[in-house]
Amino acid sequence: MDFIVTPSKLRDARVTVPGDKSISHRALMLGSIATGRTEIAGFLAGEDCLATAAAMRALGVDISQPGPTEMVVEGVGLHGLQSPAHDLDLGNSGTAMRLMAGLLAAQRFDSVLTGDDSLRSRPMGRIVTPLTRMGAAIESACDGTPPLQITGGLTLRGIDYEMPIASAQVKSAVLLAGLYAVGATTVTEPAVTRDHTERMLRSMGLDVQTTERGRGRKVSLQGGKGLRGCAIDVPADLSSATFIILGTLLSQDADILIENVGVNPTRTGVIDILLGMGARIDLENSRFHGDEPVADIRVRASRLEGGAVDPALVSLAIDEFPALFVAAAAAKGTTTFSGLEELRVKESDRIAAMADGLRRLGIRVDESPDGAVVHGGRFAGGEVQSFHDHRVAMALAMAGTIAEDVVIIRGVDNVNTSFPGFETCVAGLGANVQVA
Ligand code: S3P
Repeated sequence: MDFIVTPSKLRDARVTVPGDKSISHRALMLGSIATGRTEIAGFLAGEDCLATAAAMRALGVDISQPGPTEMVVEGVGLHGLQSPAHDLDLGNSGTAMRLMAGLLAAQRFDSVLTGDDSLRSRPMGRIVTPLTRMGAAIESACDGTPPLQITGGLTLRGIDYEMPIASAQVKSAVLLAGLYAVGATTVTEPAVTRDHTERMLRSMGLDVQTTERGRGRKVSLQGGKGLRGCAIDVPADLSSATFIILGTLLSQDADILIENVGVNPTRTGVIDILLGMGARIDLENSRFHGDEPVADIRVRASRLEGGAVDPALVSLAIDEFPALFVAAAAAKGTTTFSGLEELRVKESDRIAAMADGLRRLGIRVDESPDGAVVHGGRFAGGEVQSFHDHRVAMALAMAGTIAEDVVIIRGVDNVNTSFPGFETCVAGLGANVQVA
């Protein structure tokens, strides 16, 4: 599938975007090993989270979907998962694979985790190392990529782990294994990463201790304690809202309200970076959904200016850099991104993918190993590749709305992993995005 985007005028609107991907995955996994029922509202029924649902069902959990964005999980308790009859295919989802690896390393049975071509090329050594230290046995391909063969029936012990990289997936994998480990499990992150796992564990009755540590946090829990199922109201995903924010900022004069968006401070780096570039963004009607902060985000067309993006914000905006590269390309002056080495091992090499796409649209980009300098300019029309990466596809589609000619984005099927209905949503705002 391709997107064909023609120059468009966005109009004033109120809009909603689908539920948060990170929270939806965690609600399914933690709900499955809790006792009692977990009712999830606002669930992201995208391919990534549906892969997690299928995996949990294969592990013997009764999960029903009474509505398009509602899931009901009948928790089986900490020790109630059953041996799966087949390998668990997690599609495109790194979050599903890394978190499930932590969960499955602690079970009585063996399991195998696999995924699509992109997922099978992503590094898993980052979770295999700490889980092995806890006593797990996980085999990957010799270059550390999936499939992962996990041996069950081992007793895990808690560890005190200093993560070499800032990764919420690694932190969460270790914490999930730690639920089953003997003693305390402590993870220290070098920079703050999204804390949805910690918040949801607390909502389910677990004592999770967090202390600030330099630029990061130290998180601890005790093994062997059960979780209680609960109601989870998933906010809209700020990472998906980012594409609407981007389109609005680039537009001539649109004024758009995106409702009910998760604004957990471990996720809002993108707003801080855009405000620093001169964006007109306001958070309205701030409130909580359970333990997660939520707001309506008002965005107005803005004149953006380039500058140096603070590397301290990288872990708080990690998935938003494809959109931020487009914002930089539309801004006045140059924008320097650094500290982005993790982007090279996402669903695609996002530095290379965005540099390629922007250059094809006539923007000068000087790539470096950990970032890029993007020189603001005007987007010409042209044909670009998504590299089968949902966020690259959506970022380039928004660039297309202000290009001088038609922009064709090749290979956009994976948009359904995180933002099903993207093209209908942006079409409702006046963007001419056709699927062919
Ligand atoms: C996620 C964590 C981030 C992010 C991913 C979702 C999560 O990955 O890029 O899309 O749900 O924990 P890392 O923790 O590996 O940076």
